[in-house]
Amino acid sequence: MNLTEPPVPNEPAIAPEPAEPRARVVAGADVAPASPRLASEEVLAVKDVTVRFGGREVLNGVTFTLRSGEVTGLIGPNGSGKTTLLRVILGLQATASGSVALAGGARDRRHPVIGYVPQKFLLDPDLPLRARDVVALGLDGHRIGVPLPSKQRERRVDEVLLAVGAESVARSRVGTLSGGEQQRVLIAHAIISRPKLLLLDEPLANLDIGSAHEVVSLLATVAREFDIAVFISAHEMNTLLPVMDRVVYIANGSAVSGTTDEVIRGEVLSALYGQHVDVVRLHGRVLVLPVTGVTAGGSTHDVNVLPEAN
Ligand SMILES: Nc1ncnc2c1ncn2[C@@H]1O[C@H](COP(=O)(O)OP(=O)(O)O)[C@@H](O)[C@H]1O
Ligand SMILES: [Mg+2]
Repeated sequence: MNLTEPPVPNEPAIAPEPAEPRARVVAGADVAPASPRLASEEVLAVKDVTVRFGGREVLNGVTFTLRSGEVTGLIGPNGSGKTTLLRVILGLQATASGSVALAGGARDRRHPVIGYVPQKFLLDPDLPLRARDVVALGLDGHRIGVPLPSKQRERRVDEVLLAVGAESVARSRVGTLSGGEQQRVLIAHAIISRPKLLLLDEPLANLDIGSAHEVVSLLATVAREFDIAVFISAHEMNTLLPVMDRVVYIANGSAVSGTTDEVIRGEVLSALYGQHVDVVRLHGRVLVLPVTGVTAGGSTHDVNVLPEAN
């Protein structure tokens, strides 16, 4: 793998950053593009990435780019390689071939490249960490060098908690928060060091539909307001549809990427799955329907709904 810039997840800033985000992010509000939008730039280029586990090819020639200020969905069935691909981008997973290039030149500790929200894990309600402590860890977790003065640290934590709409739970134990509140705190943890790229692995799993919509809306606003490339993995794309600028659809080890309209089409997904797939749009939702089980004589004909259609 040819990393032009080795990623360091959530690496902290060493010196104070400009205090104010460009606008307050109103959690759960309708997504409005920031005005004026910064010109979008390429943040990540993944090229021809192949990953094998014990000779089994899990990813095969995966290629796509991510741009600042945009939300991209990483969509595919369970086991299709979404987490593996995120680990490749983080530099945690070796590749058989291919390259991952992060924009921005040489690594700079003041400007970390990647923020990461891993797949949800259970937090013990008795864990003696307040929400604001978890967010502060995003500044300190990988620290080498002189720490920020504590007043500045506190102010940064307050700003980010406000930006994600988690200020009211700042002093609550993180394990006692609802799933949606925990996601907000983890997002704050990931963006406090001002990354260019924010990766989230299935952040909507285990959330009720209302909380999922709020988190999606927050992520879109984070992308626009902070000009971050936001990359969200999900096995179910419908919740992401309202905000997804682009999609990387992964199945059978291969991926196709483009705008949602370009990718979520019968002929495109049929080629990817290697079998006939119907894409049905119904009441603003997308259903991806593979037709399987057709015998040589055509006597059986089962229609399975892929996870996307749930
Ligand atoms: N470290 C590993 N060793 C062997 N197989 C793995 C490893 N990590 C993932 N896999 C396999 O790779 C495939 C893709 O896994 P994963 O990336 O977790 O998929 P997803 O996140 O889309 O559910 C699965 O078949 C999984 O069992
Ligand atoms: Mg996964």
